Amino acid sequence: MFHFLERNPFLFTVVLFVTVAWAGLVEVLPDFAKRAQPLVGTKPYTVLQLAGRHVYIKDSCNACHSQLIRPFKSETDRYGPYSVSGEYAYDRPFLWGSKRTGPDLHRIGNYRTTDWHENHMWDPTSVVPGSIMPPYKHMFTNIADIETAYAEALTVKKVFNVPYDEEGMPKLGTLEEAKAAALAEAKEIAAQMKNQKVKDAVAAGKIPEIVALIAYLNSLK
Ligand code: HEC
Repeated sequence: MFHFLERNPFLFTVVLFVTVAWAGLVEVLPDFAKRAQPLVGTKPYTVLQLAGRHVYIKDSCNACHSQLIRPFKSETDRYGPYSVSGEYAYDRPFLWGSKRTGPDLHRIGNYRTTDWHENHMWDPTSVVPGSIMPPYKHMFTNIADIETAYAEALTVKKVFNVPYDEEGMPKLGTLEEAKAAALAEAKEIAAQMKNQKVKDAVAAGKIPEIVALIAYLNSLK
C-alpha cells in the first residue's frame, strides 16, 4: 500500500518527519499545560532569600553542589528525604546541578547553622579540615542587591502567579516595604554572626551578600 512512498525518497523523508514531529508534539505538549504543583508547605522565597540565591548563582555554587537528593538509601541516610518535583515549584531556574564536587545542599538548612556557614564561607578549612572548597571572603563586604531580588519577585508574581502577599505567604508590598522587611530579616541573621563589619553594615541599613546567602541556605529544607 505504501510502496509509492518507498520509491520516492524525498516524499518519504517529509512524511517521516511530519509523523515523528506530530507524535513528539502529542507527547510533549500536555506537559506544558500542567505546571509542577507546589508541594504543600512550599513557600516562595523572601526577597532576602532571593538575593542570596542570586549570590549563589553568581558565585557558581551550583558548579560544585547539587540540589537534588536521589531516592537511594545512601543519599536519604545522609541528606534526608529524597527530593520531589513540587519542592521546586518556585525555583526559577532550578539549581539541580550536574556535578557533586561538594555535598548536595537541598536540605542543608536542616543540619547547618548561621554561625557554621559564617565560619565555613570565610575559611572552609576552619570547620572542615582538608576542605578543598574555596573561601568567599568578598561576600562579607559586597552588598547584596535587594532591588533586583524585589524586581524578580514582583515579576514572577505578575507573570507566573507566584502567591506572594497571599495568606501565610511572604509579603512583597512596595519596594520600600520589601527593603525594610529584608533588613529586619537580615538583622536576625547578623545577630547570630560574629563578624563585626557585617554587624556594623546591617546596623547601618546595608545587607552584605553573606547575610543574604545564609538566609537562602537556611531556607533549603
Ligand atoms: C570548587 C568547588 C566548590 C565550589 C565552587 C563551592 N563549593 Fe561548597 N563545598 C565544596 C566541597 C568539596 C565541600 C566539602 C568540604 C567542606 O565541607 O568544606 C563543600 C561543602 C559545602 C557546604 C557544607 C555541606 C555539608 O553538608 O556539610 C556548604 C554549605 C557549601 N559547600 C556551600 C557552598 C556555597 C554557598 C558555595 C558558593 C558560594 C559553594 N559551596 C561553592 C566545593 C565547592
